[in-house]
Amino acid sequence: MAGHKNIFFKKNMTRHTKKEFRIFIEGHDDQIPCPGDKSVLKNMEMRGLTHIAVGCRGGGCGVCKVRVISGAYTISKMAVGKVTKEERKLGYALACCLYTRGDLKIRLIQI
Ligand code: FES
Repeated sequence: MAGHKNIFFKKNMTRHTKKEFRIFIEGHDDQIPCPGDKSVLKNMEMRGLTHIAVGCRGGGCGVCKVRVISGAYTISKMAVGKVTKEERKLGYALACCLYTRGDLKIRLIQI
């Protein structure tokens, strides 16, 4: 995996896929399965994993911020004040708005 890629949507493109990918968390050995139709945060919660802080679950509070180091993904609407345009270009995203489109390597951010 080299580099992150935020996939932007075209009109007829399916937003999320049920296909399952894997999440690798930098500094952890786990490979976490994650279907593309569940947000990364929701998937982690469903598996009882607490690596990422949970807040509003809707892209507004920013506590679940992560950085995608590599892999393809999509994002749903996030508060601009929590992830700036510049940060998005660098792969920052809110885990509650982050969907896998390929295996992802992410870095946890301490807020
Ligand atoms: S939990 Fe609040 S922005 Fe993700």
